[in-house]
Amino acid sequence: MHIDPLEKKWLYIALGMVALFLGSIFISLAVGIKPPSNVETIDSARLHLSKEFAEDNLGVHIQPDGRITVIMVAGRYGFFPRHITIPADTPITFRWASVDVLHGVHMPMTNMSTMVVPGYVAEVTTTFPKPGDYPMLCNEYCGLGHDYMWSKVTVVA
Ligand code: CUA
Repeated sequence: MHIDPLEKKWLYIALGMVALFLGSIFISLAVGIKPPSNVETIDSARLHLSKEFAEDNLGVHIQPDGRITVIMVAGRYGFFPRHITIPADTPITFRWASVDVLHGVHMPMTNMSTMVVPGYVAEVTTTFPKPGDYPMLCNEYCGLGHDYMWSKVTVVA
């Protein structure tokens, strides 16, 4: 069978590109692809059995060294606990895990924004300079109740 030399050249280029793409997929699989924000994994289906994200451990914690950690679960349709109270002008580390699908955390008028990917722990440390009541909204479409997925954060001076 005769193949035109120019056609042959492009055939090799096309096959080379396929090899390059497949190769990059296999290399990234071998290295391990992780979301860039945090690389901590968790079994979303067994959160209730985990120490940290079990229901009675959710909420605001003051660590022995004085740091403040907020443990929350995101699920259709809310962030639990539904209302937390935290101090202003203090670094606060939030940790979220999703019980079901992808959710987003957004607090308008603050710099708080992250995704909560099922299977991973999302962690953000931030400070709220202004006291007040803030909504914590979901900004990733997660189902019919997405528009109503929000909880309340009270920042006290
Ligand atoms: Cu959760 Cu949208």
